[in-house]
Amino acid sequence: MPTDAATPAVSVISDRINALEAPQTIEMAKKARALAAQGVDVISLSFGEPDFQTPQYIKDAAKQAIDEGFTFYTPVPGIPQLRQAICDKLKRDNNLDYQPDSIVVSTGAKQALANAVLALVNPGDEVIIFSPFWVSYEEMVKLAEGVTVRLEGALENDYKVTAAQLEAAITPRTKLVMYSSPCNPTGAVWSRQELADIAAVLARHPQVLVVADEIYEYINFVGEHASLAQFEEVKDQVVTVNGFSKGYAMTGWRIGYLAARPDIAAACDKLQSQVTSATCSITQRAALAALQGGRASADEMVAAYRRRRDLVLEMVKDIPGFVTPTPEGAFYIFPDVSAYFGKLTPAGDTITTSRELALYLLNDAHVAAVDGGAFGAPRCLRFSTAAADDKLIEAFRRIALSLAKLH
Ligand SMILES: Cc1ncc(COP(=O)(O)O)c(C=O)c1O
Repeated sequence: MPTDAATPAVSVISDRINALEAPQTIEMAKKARALAAQGVDVISLSFGEPDFQTPQYIKDAAKQAIDEGFTFYTPVPGIPQLRQAICDKLKRDNNLDYQPDSIVVSTGAKQALANAVLALVNPGDEVIIFSPFWVSYEEMVKLAEGVTVRLEGALENDYKVTAAQLEAAITPRTKLVMYSSPCNPTGAVWSRQELADIAAVLARHPQVLVVADEIYEYINFVGEHASLAQFEEVKDQVVTVNGFSKGYAMTGWRIGYLAARPDIAAACDKLQSQVTSATCSITQRAALAALQGGRASADEMVAAYRRRRDLVLEMVKDIPGFVTPTPEGAFYIFPDVSAYFGKLTPAGDTITTSRELALYLLNDAHVAAVDGGAFGAPRCLRFSTAAADDKLIEAFRRIALSLAKLH
């Protein structure tokens, strides 16, 4: 068999990396870009990225940092002023008391999550992941050689896992629980009472730790955001992850953080010191300015996200076979599309999975979505609503037309 450099006969790649999945969010974006490069007018709703610019005052702080020559390595877990500002933010927004030695600033919330998983999970440990879940959780657990236990939230409960479900899933091997609220992909927001019930379960299992991913905290349409760490009896079991990508439209700057009890924070700092060191010094100054500016700029963006969510829900209501809970936060809709499984495309192909439906919509409607299988929900598709209103209107008009051709 002929071989080339890209596919040599014997793989030199480690089993660890061969076993990893590439994120489907990025796969679909690649396919959409390839089609667009052929001149097709593709509307990409596959990426989880705000379409807003980073607010000007944050950009200005970065420019000032460059002009002042703030271009050197910083302490690995972040500059002291930023770690203090994060403590102040956690107090102001979440009523959480942390000292700077509990804070580790990282290259995105993604690195904060990976730090926490690798710092806590031993080979064979069970990690309960509330499902549907964000694409990278399972792969991070794989890297740590942990065993994922998916715990599925019911559609009737807006896909939210309940305390009773959690209680039933905990075993002597359970080390960690992971979830996001507001949730990517479902938009579900766990209420204070729901988290209180979950905290009561965790308090009975003090050996179980939790990674609470709150990256969408500010993109919340129901008002109150509750943090699991607010329940004092479990605070030391919780690693809270947050960042700047979504709330401050800072995806490209690469900065996020975690707050945890000092021994866990120190372990994350140790790991990060051997892998990447601190994130960019200039980005840290930008993030400091972002926090000092409060959440006014986020609130403006949230008003737009809410309007777009309502716009999309209104259009989706008229699409038969899309069963969509109302997202309470984040910027996605996550319809169950299984009503289309078994239907034929005009070309005579049978749609059997949401992945095939996503590909059909890309090729026929020229709209890119992500297959729910990537999030543990193979009956669903994820559409980002972080796009301009006219794009969303056109996308769902095309989707409705393409779906109507299936029979
Ligand atoms: C649920 C969730 N957690 C974490 C991240 C990573 O965010 P960051 O850009 O800060 O690495 C994302 C980004 O899409 C996300 O959706």
